[in-house]
Amino acid sequence: GSGGKAGMGRVADVLIPQGEIARRVRELGADLARDLTVELEREGSAMDAPGRIVLMPVLTGAVVFVADLIRHMPLMMSMELVSVSSYPGATTESKGAALRGALPKDLAGRHVVIVDDIYDTGQTLSLLQTLIAEQKPASVRTCVLLSKERERLAEAKVEYVGFEIPNAFVVGYGLDYDGFYRNLPEIVVLGEEPE
Ligand code: IMP
Ligand code: MG
Repeated sequence: GSGGKAGMGRVADVLIPQGEIARRVRELGADLARDLTVELEREGSAMDAPGRIVLMPVLTGAVVFVADLIRHMPLMMSMELVSVSSYPGATTESKGAALRGALPKDLAGRHVVIVDDIYDTGQTLSLLQTLIAEQKPASVRTCVLLSKERERLAEAKVEYVGFEIPNAFVVGYGLDYDGFYRNLPEIVVLGEEPE
């Protein structure tokens, strides 16, 4: 389409502008903080009890999102980064999900929040949810900025969704194509450069 990002190579149309992302991320943070507070109240934990809440952002796509999200979550929490490979190299097709490295081993009895950029085929989130459940956490929640309208290859439980988007390849706000475009402040649809 028209209106590409100057100096960014491929032509790209803005799907979700910066201000809309900021507004929605604030809401997601508030929703999560409210629901986690209820969990702590229910179990009788002090609001500042350490070690109850573990945020688990999925590298690398979730880094921009989680950085903004946690600043709307005024709770005691720790963060454990996990790495899952799913789109190696210059492709927009899923190659399945594989854990890189190990999961943290101390999730039993704690409240885990998985944070990812996008729910696409579902393989990443389904894999993580299965592995995390084996450790018997007190609760597991999953929060994604984007969810694609498409057939899933693996079903995952995703309780917090920022935006439902059409089945197009998008970049920006942490999402990449071949490692690039993560620094775009908005979500854009990646398009081909016209001749
Ligand atoms: P899934 O395992 O197929 O659900 O894919 C999850 C991962 O694939 C996400 O965390 C992203 O890193 C990547 N991904 C899926 N769709 C897109 C997209 O449209 N743009 C960029 N990355 C994507
Ligand atoms: Mg990813």
